[in-house]
Amino acid sequence: MKKITAAITAVHGFVPPDILSNSDLEKMVETNDEWIVARTGIKERRIQKTPGLATSDMAVEAVNGLLQKRGITAADIDLIIFCTITGDMIFPSAACILADKIGAKNAFGYDLAAACSGFLFGLETGATFVESGKYKKVLVLGGDKMSSIIDYTDRNTCIIFGDGVGCVLLEPNEDGLGVIDSILKIDGQGRQYLYQTAGGSLKPPTHETIDAREHYVYQDGKAVYKFAVIGMAEVSAQIMERNNLTSDDINWLVPHQANLRIIDATAKRMGLNQEKVMINIDHFGNTTNGTIPLLLWEFENKLKKGDTLVLSAFGGGFTWGAIYLKWAY
Ligand code: UT7
Repeated sequence: MKKITAAITAVHGFVPPDILSNSDLEKMVETNDEWIVARTGIKERRIQKTPGLATSDMAVEAVNGLLQKRGITAADIDLIIFCTITGDMIFPSAACILADKIGAKNAFGYDLAAACSGFLFGLETGATFVESGKYKKVLVLGGDKMSSIIDYTDRNTCIIFGDGVGCVLLEPNEDGLGVIDSILKIDGQGRQYLYQTAGGSLKPPTHETIDAREHYVYQDGKAVYKFAVIGMAEVSAQIMERNNLTSDDINWLVPHQANLRIIDATAKRMGLNQEKVMINIDHFGNTTNGTIPLLLWEFENKLKKGDTLVLSAFGGGFTWGAIYLKWAY
């Protein structure tokens, strides 16, 4: 019997229509377009402004597009893994809410929290379910409504993040296509540099936590940058070495979009020129769990069956990693 791998057989995404540009931010905090572009590469990001809409609502749009493309219904899905740090509520999970909204009556599912590396962790987990032979259609989503936890008076963070959700379908493949290898890591020492203080069991919400603005993202950008620029490049180089891949073998680097300078350093370490690097940070900013699936969605029509991709990320936790996969369609 041939070995079963987990292949991506469909991809889709959704970003809300409202744009938050650098010139909009200039009116909100002391910043300027030149600084933001030079230090991050971001020109604008999408924000879900409509009251009453949450992360699951973006996911519904993304999943419905995917199902239509693949020609299946939500009832065909076996498992939903929703990688997010901004689920609609603390509980129930965004996966439960999504399953209800799309009518995924035959699926089980759960949320996975690994911040900016979440989609890679979800892809590895979903792939393992498919490889087991027990699950045939696994939906892996990555995305966040970052605007719900961003302090728009803090110029250190509000210029960076945007909203959006991407998703992929994993199905069994017997031709050696799909997820081939992964290196995934966590280091909780990094929690001192990137976190949201309140709202969890350590500091439940009180008037004081709200007054102290502790329900927003805090980031020591300089410190995170130092770890990210080394971590993402190193793990990407490691997965190449372990699989005897040269830069010529790689068709695409699909990097988490935190900062264009981190992406450039990773590509340089891998010996890749810019034409092989997927970028959407300029128009979507950092969508946290959404960056990688949204890239696959936007670049879908450039991908060819058999293409070699390295997906790579670094984020809060710290969490980081790289996945080597072969595109299946
Ligand atoms: O996705 C999850 C993982 N996250 C990351 O990988 C993010 C990693 N970090 C970064 O990408 C960068 O550190 C940032 C983009 C967040 C910041 O860039 P930086 O080059 O590290 O800037 P900095 O924080 O060192 O600040 C440099 C200067 C400071 O002024 P002084 O002290 O040199 O006078 C800041 O006060 O720039 C100032 N600054 C700003 N100026 C204009 C900080 N934020 C802004 C701003 N506009 N928005």
